[in-house]
Amino acid sequence: MSQAPDYTDKIPNNVGLREDRRLQRALESWQPNFLNWWASMGPTLPTQDVYLRTAVNVGREGWAHFAHVPMPDYRWGIFLAEQDPHREIGFGQHKGEPAWQQVPGEYRSDLLRLIVIQGDTEPASVEQQRDLGATAPSLYDLRNLFQVNVEEGRHLWAMVYLLHAYFGREGREEAEELLHRNSGSPDAPRILGAFNEATPDWLSFYMFTYFTDRDGKYQLGTLKESAFDPLSRTCEFMLKEEAHHMMVGTTGVDRVVERTAQVMVENDTDDVAACGVIPLPVIQKYLNFHYSVSLDLFGGETSTNVANYYTAGLKGRWSEERRQDDHRLTNDAMMVDALVDGEVAEVEVAALTGLNTDLRRQYIADCRGGVNRWNKILSDAGLPHRLRLPHVAFNRHVGAFAAITATPEGELIPAGEWQRRKGGWLPTDVDKTHVRSLMRPVHERGKIAAWIAPPRNGINGKPFDYDYVHLA
Ligand SMILES: [Fe+2]
Ligand SMILES: [Fe+2]
Repeated sequence: MSQAPDYTDKIPNNVGLREDRRLQRALESWQPNFLNWWASMGPTLPTQDVYLRTAVNVGREGWAHFAHVPMPDYRWGIFLAEQDPHREIGFGQHKGEPAWQQVPGEYRSDLLRLIVIQGDTEPASVEQQRDLGATAPSLYDLRNLFQVNVEEGRHLWAMVYLLHAYFGREGREEAEELLHRNSGSPDAPRILGAFNEATPDWLSFYMFTYFTDRDGKYQLGTLKESAFDPLSRTCEFMLKEEAHHMMVGTTGVDRVVERTAQVMVENDTDDVAACGVIPLPVIQKYLNFHYSVSLDLFGGETSTNVANYYTAGLKGRWSEERRQDDHRLTNDAMMVDALVDGEVAEVEVAALTGLNTDLRRQYIADCRGGVNRWNKILSDAGLPHRLRLPHVAFNRHVGAFAAITATPEGELIPAGEWQRRKGGWLPTDVDKTHVRSLMRPVHERGKIAAWIAPPRNGINGKPFDYDYVHLA
């Protein structure tokens, strides 16, 4: 059973670390390396302290404690959701058997791989976002950035705990590598493409937390179903923290759209770049970029690896328990996106091999929710303009559509034409320069940059003009 976290330990945890001296020592020797990484690759803006929430209890009865904390003193810890001693495996060939408390030898290398890939994304986003503090539009936003950063650091701890506790020497080596690879590094880049892209401005940050953190939500959702119970419980708790990251993205884009719409109405023009806000077509281009690179994170349309992971019980589907089928899928088929005779089409495949497509579709349906809400802001402002998700074939570098070039409407066009027209669909240097020109820091209490609307609510019931961050 999990227990209340012990904050007197060097490493706060609810996994009984004190009873396992070897593991405790191993993690305590990784801890200074983590702190060195945070100091050299984490947020660059000097601060005294930040109004942060820290996990204090994993139970439903409230798990977060809010206080001003110097960031290097944040209590990164190891928190697993409560153990259900009767939990059974919910899918695959082991369906109905007791969940595993140890790693079965036959699945060891696959589980290690899944944990390393997930673990690699967590510190990557901290690296991508490290310079954003210098241009924050308000102290409220600055605080949210740092909250996301410390929690991604904690998610790294979550994965490193599993590596150390269950994968021996190999796991410890992988834990070192997680600090060694860096986002965008030419020699040792992060494993997945989207995590090597820059996050140079706050519109990118909101789009990243909306679209790319949301990919994280879906990946964690599949690992939460895992037969390997410690992984399942870790991911269940990470999902609670992840919800805040997506709130930052959703409401961040809300506020950019709201402010742009306001200025469009006030000046009765679409051409609002000169008015110090971000024009809607530029917002659309950022959306196109972040959505399409996030679609790539789900992998190819079909995958025998993923079929094997499912059958073995390592990785389930989104909302596995709500699916109305046999949870084995050995006799089922599904349609997946494909290129057929050079055209965008669908083909039927075994349901097991199409699981990446299944997950991507769940994600796409979720992303529509954001676009609908941003369009409601536009329609409430009396504007006829609408944002939309580009076609699944647009700007893809992984899967069936990597070989072709398509417009955001999904029309296939020659590569040369795509190159000529892509400036209309993806952010150009001019767009990026304009957005960056707006990124002047507003670090005064209660003030906000002119390109974004203030939030509807503060954090933890505090007002917008609360002193969320004390700068150094
Ligand atoms: Fe995360
Ligand atoms: Fe996140």
